Amino acid sequence: MLVAPSILSCDFGRINEEISAICKTDCDFIHVDVMDGHFVPNLTIGPVVVESVNKISSKPLDIHFMVQNNTFFVELFKDIKPEFITFHIEEEKHPHRLIQKIKDYGIKAGVVLNPHTNPSIIEYLIEYLDIVLLMSVNPGFGGQSFISNVLEKSKVLKEMIEKRNPKCLIEIDGGVNDKNIHLLKESGVDMVVAGNYIFKSSDYSQAVKSLKI
Ligand code: DX5
Ligand code: ZN
Repeated sequence: MLVAPSILSCDFGRINEEISAICKTDCDFIHVDVMDGHFVPNLTIGPVVVESVNKISSKPLDIHFMVQNNTFFVELFKDIKPEFITFHIEEEKHPHRLIQKIKDYGIKAGVVLNPHTNPSIIEYLIEYLDIVLLMSVNPGFGGQSFISNVLEKSKVLKEMIEKRNPKCLIEIDGGVNDKNIHLLKESGVDMVVAGNYIFKSSDYSQAVKSLKI
């Protein structure tokens, strides 16, 4: 299992130390939640701060946009050269065009599906995607409870992926912990985001290790 700690739950007053500490663990990516106060009722960090995070981090970034006007945000963040940029399918009229744009910048591209969104909406997009992120909470805040029907959704998506683009990864975001990680693995998930579970623990390495199954 690939593990991407979400810095939304870190202590932003000590962000330098927090990034250094998380990079000493066996995690694979740093998950960065970019929220604009419009698509979701929360506002987080912009390119200036994310650029600094990227400089401190020895792990590649996984940037999750929860914003309106995705194209504008892609232009703002492209020079940081994250590993992944994902954007919400519910907020994009031309996802195919935007996927191409992100890939043209040499960045892996993916879409995010809210808890209510049926994976069938991406059936004819899947062959162009590097990753699909399924939300297992409503986007906007860390520390919420896991919505377990994402397990069934992941299985449906996995079948579609195997048929149309076996290299595409399934990522899950929200309420992930050591209690649901095995069920996620059994449901075909390749990568998990975890915020509170890791950053509210007393031992980041141990918390990451418990998810790397
Ligand atoms: C929620 C964010 C998540 C969040 C997950 O909108 O997309 O990445 O940080 O936090 P936890 O793991 O605490 O649910
Ligand atoms: Zn996220």
